[in-house]
Amino acid sequence: MTSGGDAPGMNAAVRAAALVAMANGIEVVGIRRGYKGLLENDLVTLAPGDVLAVLREGGTMLGSARCKAFHQRDVRDRARAVLHQAGVDQLVVIGGNGSLTGAVRLTDADELGEGALRVAGIPASIDNDIAYTGLSIGVDTAMNTIVEALDKIADTATAHDRTFIVEVMGRDCGYLSMTAAVAGGADGVLYPEAGKDVHSIVDRIVDTVLAKRSRPGRSRRAIFVKAEGVHLPIDQLKREVDARLAAASGEELTETETRVTVLGHVVRGGRPSAFDRLLGSRLANVAVRALMAGRTRVMAAWMPPVDIDPAIGTRTEADPYCWLVELPAALAETDRLIAGQGGLAQWRAHVFDDLEAVFLL
Ligand code: F6P
Repeated sequence: MTSGGDAPGMNAAVRAAALVAMANGIEVVGIRRGYKGLLENDLVTLAPGDVLAVLREGGTMLGSARCKAFHQRDVRDRARAVLHQAGVDQLVVIGGNGSLTGAVRLTDADELGEGALRVAGIPASIDNDIAYTGLSIGVDTAMNTIVEALDKIADTATAHDRTFIVEVMGRDCGYLSMTAAVAGGADGVLYPEAGKDVHSIVDRIVDTVLAKRSRPGRSRRAIFVKAEGVHLPIDQLKREVDARLAAASGEELTETETRVTVLGHVVRGGRPSAFDRLLGSRLANVAVRALMAGRTRVMAAWMPPVDIDPAIGTRTEADPYCWLVELPAALAETDRLIAGQGGLAQWRAHVFDDLEAVFLL
């Protein structure tokens, strides 16, 4: 099953999960449209020919959906009944925070009773907001899409000495904005983990723009990447920046007026990068082998960026770059990450403060 916001590379995970299972004599069905499709018994038997060619396609061949109703116990009971009736006893859920939470609830010991269902999760979300995995499926492609857009914006921004603010997806997580800003050579990044108020955000932009404009013989353009998780409407930000710049320079703003670009869902589409194809394939291989070994409520993870208690997660034998972590623990840590707590969140909060002087050069 793929569920929640689609992510480039999900198809690679579907393909590898199906092929590894089939090669081990397991019958495979795909669930269409996530938990919504599951509740409607929208299951399809898969053969190798159904999945072999999907590797290079964006989106997900199984379709996806968000399903708020899955928070209800009676709805989960219905889902378990559908799986039982179809003879599904092992489930691979490929998705983000909400989707993996659904997998944990589906296999809650109190709710499951004598049921035999086992689940393995594969982190897939362009937001990179899932704990204990260095990367989730889709992040690399999304980052490349943003960088390509930034390169194009840089051409026109440089030609006109303009300031641009480019908003990118990421929900409450600044990871995409931060990494794309570095890889795209932006002049600043606005990300939620910094916890800055509107005044300091505007100050930061204005100071940078004035510094850039004061440099004879060098590019006077300035590009800022804004994470959508910075809850400040981009048009309001533009107005406040322009008003401050006009006041500071005493000029009428015409040619130098700030431009804004919201990349939106463009960031989520497109052919998966080679890395996302590989990541999806490798995590799926590990997830299916974990199920085959009798494990349940685990998540396949890619090179965790923090130390993990061995009681919670261990490196796998199947792939030295992949770990298996307890899914409930990964989700609890994900909540902390999104709330800005824990070592990784703190690092993300401070790293660009340390780099501020570098951006101003
Ligand atoms: O979680 C992935 C994501 O693309 C976020 O970056 C974004 O905030 C959200 O999904 C958009 O969701 P939807 O496609 O349902 O509008």
